[in-house]
Amino acid sequence: MKNILITGGAGFIGSHVVRLFVNNYPDYHIYNLDALTYAGNLENLKDVEAASNYTFLKADINDSEGILNLFQKYRFDSVIHLAAESHVDRSITDPLSFLKTNIFGTVNLLNAAKEVWKDDFETKLFYHISTDEVYGTLGETGLFTEKTSYDPNSPYSASKASSDHFVRAYGETYGLPYIISNCSNNYGPNQFPEKLIPLFINNIIEKRPLPVYGDGNYTRDWLYVIDHATAIDLAFHKGKKKETYNIGGFNEWKNIDLVKLLCSLMDEKLNTPERSSEQLITFVKDRPGHDLRYAIDASKINADLGWKPSLTFEEGLSNTIDWYLTNKNWLKNVTSGAYQEYYKNQYKK
Ligand code: NAD
Ligand code: TYD
Repeated sequence: MKNILITGGAGFIGSHVVRLFVNNYPDYHIYNLDALTYAGNLENLKDVEAASNYTFLKADINDSEGILNLFQKYRFDSVIHLAAESHVDRSITDPLSFLKTNIFGTVNLLNAAKEVWKDDFETKLFYHISTDEVYGTLGETGLFTEKTSYDPNSPYSASKASSDHFVRAYGETYGLPYIISNCSNNYGPNQFPEKLIPLFINNIIEKRPLPVYGDGNYTRDWLYVIDHATAIDLAFHKGKKKETYNIGGFNEWKNIDLVKLLCSLMDEKLNTPERSSEQLITFVKDRPGHDLRYAIDASKINADLGWKPSLTFEEGLSNTIDWYLTNKNWLKNVTSGAYQEYYKNQYKK
């Protein structure tokens, strides 16, 4: 039996990774460590919470002593680290909480792993989950490869870039075995409705304006979350230590085109008159430091590990909308209270 620590497992991507590992690897015991911030939700894992190879640990990665105690108690063999503050807009209003969790929290985990694994690095792995945003922005052409220089523009991406550097530095300095993957924008079930796609699905359901930043001509490369979880599974088991893998959807969309596609799919599913959701589109003040374009060259993980996305964007988006429409209670629960306050502040201008 191997003990695997997954941090941030109650969040969007983490919950899909936890489910995949609990269901596919009965020989692993999965420890899901999460502080349950506004973004963490144990409802995401109802279907696996009774599994005999699953344990939830409520803990904060910023608590260095608590984290070391957990490493000593459970003797984790490997870590898949997803816990983070993850929303760019929140990082613009509160950079310090990003510095704290994403940098300090990551270094706490690295220290605990180094301390507990020091006599036997060979069989261990620290797998750090990161983002393509560390590379900064692309112009109209080109793709991010694993060799692209880091050039982060937002407090979020600066904090993730720093955490990547720390992971690599612990590999070089102390010999800690690590893998890093940098993924493009994810979408799918269980994403908190502060990110573009679930926010706009929720607003269409509620017939609220769809706040498109600037002129809407910003481009993102979208990947279905379960395809990301599959890539993490592959890199965890077959990836080479000390390597970085870029993961992307081969799927670039300008925000405004994506929003129009989403509107037409929602009109179809909600049986509303044609183009009625599009009338909700409202251009609002741009995000400061808004990166123009992200796009990943995922040819390394494709060639080395045989990974590629399994769904087209239309299929993934359609599944995602269906999930939100059949899980309106999930949406209702996460959009009450503190969410209303966040929404009022974020979109007041
Ligand atoms: P999320 O915000 O949905 O979830 C983050 C989880 O981390 C939550 O469950 C939260 O409770 C937990 N957490 C936050 N602070 C914590 C702390 N101090 N201690 C313990 N737990 C804490 O994020 P997500 O979108 O699922 O992203 C997961 C990871 O993947 C992040 O590291 C993010 O940078 C990375 N990533 C995200 C995307 C994306 O499109 N969402 C793309 C590439 C990489
Ligand atoms: P987001 O989902 O926040 O992801 P990221 O900033 O990490 O790429 O945003 C995706 C794109 O959508 C980004 O270009 C910003 C834009 N956007 C809007 O136009 N309006 C919104 O209300 C939000 C949240 C995002």
